Amino acid sequence: MASSAVRSLVLLLTIAAAIAGALSDPTPLQDFCVADLQAATPVDGFVCKPPASVEDDDFFSRAIAAAGSTSNPFGVNSTRATVSTFPGLNTLGVSITRVDLAPGGLNPPHSHPRASELVMVLKGEVLVGFTTAVNRLFSKVVRENELFVVPRGLQHFQLNAGAGDAVFVAMFDSQSPGLVTPTFAMFATKPAMPMEVLTKTFLMGEDEVSAMKSKFAAF
Ligand SMILES: *[C@@H]1O[C@H](CO)[C@@H](O)[C@H](O)[C@H]1NC(C)=O
Repeated sequence: MASSAVRSLVLLLTIAAAIAGALSDPTPLQDFCVADLQAATPVDGFVCKPPASVEDDDFFSRAIAAAGSTSNPFGVNSTRATVSTFPGLNTLGVSITRVDLAPGGLNPPHSHPRASELVMVLKGEVLVGFTTAVNRLFSKVVRENELFVVPRGLQHFQLNAGAGDAVFVAMFDSQSPGLVTPTFAMFATKPAMPMEVLTKTFLMGEDEVSAMKSKFAAF
């Protein structure tokens, strides 16, 4: 009786651990595995550089040191230090993105399928908001040195709410959080989403859908 209860508990914990494990990057099996971005073998992540050729600079990056240009219709530029620009992150389960926003600039609604996002504002005032599976919107104006967290996978946006430029960093619990921006995932796919899917999804006529598509095709 007692042992069957223990077995059920162990089974439950195993399932819980398996589910938890599936939600984040895998645990590293070694101290480091600096990505060999040129390796021909495709794996989930990247093959490790030979440890003997690993050097200090593999663990250093200036990937987000400079501001990106915000001269675009959204007034935003995301500069990423994910595994593809910072190979030392391979297998470590973390990455960071710098986002520059012009006055009035918007980082349009998007989601990261593989990571939660911890936002820290470095400059200015940013309205950060995310929506839940029941369409509840949580949002807050976040100022210098303040934090806001976006749970994994949920759709979110960042709008410059101040008078000047704004800068924030977004820290992720994945070396490669992924990015899905519904506007582009609907109106700018290759090949194109069938017109019937778009007209029925947005309750729009074909002319309205075409107008939307022509806007997003420009990027
Ligand atoms: C972001 O900034 C970089 C560096 O200034 C620039 O090369 C790139 O075109 C910018 N991206 C967008 C979408 O404006």
